[in-house]
Amino acid sequence: MIQPIPTAPRARLVSTGRFNPERVVTNAEMATIVETNDEWITSRTGIRERRIASKETGAADMAAAAARVAMERAGVGPLDLDMILLSTATPDRLLPSTACDVQALLGARNAAAYDFATACSGFLYGLSMAEAHIASGQAETILVCATEKMSSIVDWTDRTTCVLFGDGAGAAVVQRATDGRGILSTYMKSDGTLAELLWRPGGGARMPLDLSVLDDRSHYVKMAGPEVFKSAVRAMCEAAETALVRAGVTSDQIDLMVPHQANVRIIESTAKYAKMPMDRVYVNVDRYGNMSSASIPVALDEAVEKGLAGPGSLVLMVAFGAGFTWASNVVRL
Ligand code: ACO
Repeated sequence: MIQPIPTAPRARLVSTGRFNPERVVTNAEMATIVETNDEWITSRTGIRERRIASKETGAADMAAAAARVAMERAGVGPLDLDMILLSTATPDRLLPSTACDVQALLGARNAAAYDFATACSGFLYGLSMAEAHIASGQAETILVCATEKMSSIVDWTDRTTCVLFGDGAGAAVVQRATDGRGILSTYMKSDGTLAELLWRPGGGARMPLDLSVLDDRSHYVKMAGPEVFKSAVRAMCEAAETALVRAGVTSDQIDLMVPHQANVRIIESTAKYAKMPMDRVYVNVDRYGNMSSASIPVALDEAVEKGLAGPGSLVLMVAFGAGFTWASNVVRL
């Protein structure tokens, strides 16, 4: 049985920011690239268009752009950052980390910076890491970034995956909680036995990039869609429930649910299970597709900008992604 874990919040989201590339690729344009159509994509996923970054734009550039917005809103300068925690499944290079590139771009000379790879759940894992670093006294001001250039790792000849994803970045400034607002509960879980349902088999240490990898295109994302769909629904329902119980709140107290934006059908199933009416669930997958870990911070930032959540609002965030990993939290903004 899930038990409440009542604690005073230790860390607070002070501000958010986002970056989305300008270029819009509609379903109609996708149909000129692979054999697909707007009706199939919309009815199966809810996606109508996605943003695709230019060749010159890297994951670090997008993260830095989102970070600058969040930092300006928080009144935090580059030298105030003690840490930069960065989630990405699409690092600009395999070595060194994209977080270090963001540190350099921002001129955040006082910060420790590192990446982590928890796919679509990354922003929620990042908030939990930030909370832990603050609770341990290691840091007072932390930048959590989630940045994904999914267009660089999808196979543009595979209609079963390339239509689903988009590019973008979100960021949040996290500081010590002082007034009861902040992260009220967190839940994180993983299941590595299911890794091969959503993965990039080639191009890493086990199967280094060579001509055979390029030939069989195994450096691109492979996904068993229907199996992932079922696991996503199960895990997101469990995650939503756990975060609520741990925070000691019920869904009718939640002002806004901000779920991972992979597929509107997964979002609707999760919302129904969590007893959240869709008018209190933020959805933007129609405009961006699945931006992996950037989906939640972009959605949260948009929702705040639209006035759907603000200071004092109770927000439930729920995510699921490759690994598998899943996570949730309840946050008082
Ligand atoms: N256009 C047209 N037809 C297509 C396309 C396309 N883009 N893609 C697949 N099809 C065809 C298939 O070939 C298949 O044809 P067949 O019946 O002749 O073999 C048919 O459509 C049905 O395919 P399914 O895979 O059964 O379709 P399904 O209804 O399961 O929808 C989808 C596929 C949208 C991928 C769904 O399974 C899904 O959303 N899965 C979860 C994906 C997800 O959430 N991933 C993200 C979590 S992790 C992360 O974010 C990184």
